[in-house]
Amino acid sequence: MCGIVGYTGPREAYPIVITGLKRLEYRGYDSTGVALLNGGLKVYKKKGRVADLEENVLGKDLHSNIGIGHTRWATHGEPSDRNAHPHTSGSGKLAMIHNGIIENYAQIKKELLNKGYHFTSDTDTEVLLNFIEDINKNNECNLEEAVRIALKRITGAYCILLIDEDDPETIIAARKGSPLVIGVGKGEHFLGSDASPMLEYTKEVVYVNDYELAIVRPDELILKNLGNEKVTPFVTKLDMELAAIEKGGYDHFMLKEIFEQPSTILDCLRGRLDANAGTITMSGVQKNIEALKSAHRIIIVACGTSWHAGLVAEYIIEELCRIPVEVEYASEFRYRNPVINKGDIIIAVSQSGETADTLVAIEKAKEQGAVIFGIVNAVGSSIARISDGGAYTHAGPEIGVASTKAFTGQLVVLTMMALKIAKEKGSISDERYRHLLQELADVPEKVAALLKNADDLKIIAEKYKDASDALFLGRGYNFPIALEGALKLKEISYIHAEGYPAAEMKHGPIALVTETLPVVFVATKDSYHEKIVSNIQEIKARKGKVIAIVSEGDEVIPGLADDVFFVPPADELVAPILSCVPLQLLSYYMGIVRGVDVDKPRNLAKSVTVE
Ligand code: AGP
Ligand code: GLU
Repeated sequence: MCGIVGYTGPREAYPIVITGLKRLEYRGYDSTGVALLNGGLKVYKKKGRVADLEENVLGKDLHSNIGIGHTRWATHGEPSDRNAHPHTSGSGKLAMIHNGIIENYAQIKKELLNKGYHFTSDTDTEVLLNFIEDINKNNECNLEEAVRIALKRITGAYCILLIDEDDPETIIAARKGSPLVIGVGKGEHFLGSDASPMLEYTKEVVYVNDYELAIVRPDELILKNLGNEKVTPFVTKLDMELAAIEKGGYDHFMLKEIFEQPSTILDCLRGRLDANAGTITMSGVQKNIEALKSAHRIIIVACGTSWHAGLVAEYIIEELCRIPVEVEYASEFRYRNPVINKGDIIIAVSQSGETADTLVAIEKAKEQGAVIFGIVNAVGSSIARISDGGAYTHAGPEIGVASTKAFTGQLVVLTMMALKIAKEKGSISDERYRHLLQELADVPEKVAALLKNADDLKIIAEKYKDASDALFLGRGYNFPIALEGALKLKEISYIHAEGYPAAEMKHGPIALVTETLPVVFVATKDSYHEKIVSNIQEIKARKGKVIAIVSEGDEVIPGLADDVFFVPPADELVAPILSCVPLQLLSYYMGIVRGVDVDKPRNLAKSVTVE
């Protein structure tokens, strides 16, 4: 999630905070705000850019020696002035900023509403803030203790900075799951989601750990755990320059976002999938469950990588829900005169939620009476707003032009959605349902495990860097992943690549096979395994070079392939979430070795809002 900045000390706080927010802009956001304390709380916030906020506060009294600032990537409540942070408590005395997701906010909000609290925003953050104030008032404890009690009762991820009108030097901070760095100055302290806001003031930083709470004053930093036990702050010396920090120490946003996938997949599952209880909670699906389970047909419209996610969903939904699915390129769907019947459900898949072809396609379908369901990453985006229901992928801002973590987020959401519909329809056995829930729950760990061998793909990329063409082949659930691998290689390394169903080779493309042609097989262990072994042998018989993505423990394909990358074994229905990651890395390293600007490849835009 997005950006946090704080300062307390002898300097003017506003310039430090607003400059710090600009340093965090690279993380992507939709709104921003600051809170200052000077004879009372002053909060300035709005939808839009940091520069818009700066313009908005021109001429205002910005003097203060303490301040907090936030760039928001909306998760609960669309991007708007009122949903922007900082939020102020009911009493008007407390201001708070937050990065993360409070999963059990709805229940807490209900309890607070019953107590007479009012809310000015749709966010989970404002609920947490008033929960803290309520505890502070009714438990007769100090604010620090109220924060501790509240944090022990919520579930989810947070980094919070909280200031109190009645204590104008102190910032209370805490984190779990979202990053927090505290810069130690002489008689002053700096806080940030990373060290970029404090770089010119101090290189001495404390990386706060999960479940820790910090009381920060100009000349004092007290660190405690949620059990109220003091923790000795571990001060380290920063050796990163600003440019490196923005990418979290990675060379490129694309690599950072590939490696973020264990945590972004976890964020996508968070608060939704409970494998132990055997439940999937998706309010957007639940609200439309009757229409979804009785659908005569599901039409998925999307573009590019999102279209590939739709293809995987076609296999999963038909397998689990027994509902016919068609996957359409939005750019084709919108211009032809498609037949849309009552009872059809349209699912739009989009990272940006602003892709023009997808947006117009669903506008036209809506005009013909179809129910629209949006699987989107950007909260409050156009496609999210026009949809009758939906589910966010919670992958956080995706800066690299190539879609990586958003793609795996789309696969996770679509798989959960299919499982939920199948369960409601009774078209899946309880045993298979529980098994697949556990398989999904295990995905973050398996992705983390396979990422440990990322360097193996660097070696393969070096070996084939001069290829002019490549083929990607897969069967079943892995066929769309072959298409995705080909798209990634094209857009990131500029090598021409095509994806095919593996069995399709003999119907023409096999004429391309020579000893210089790399052929990538997405061949994780599944019900098609024997068949794909034959396809590999067909290529080998014609001296093609075979690169195979296989499951650990495969004893057949490694003996046939020229190069192999192993992924942890998984049910074939969730295997695509694993098998796409080595292909992301292969395209990344190919792009690097070929000198491509992998974060901004030529001719490409992150969001294609033109037709
Ligand atoms: C993905 O790597 C590409 N950059 C592109 O194909 C993208 O998936 C497509 O433009 C759709 O974008 P959207 O998901 O934001 O709608
Ligand atoms: N969940 C909070 C909101 O939607 C915080 C989002 C963020 O991390 O920026 O406002």
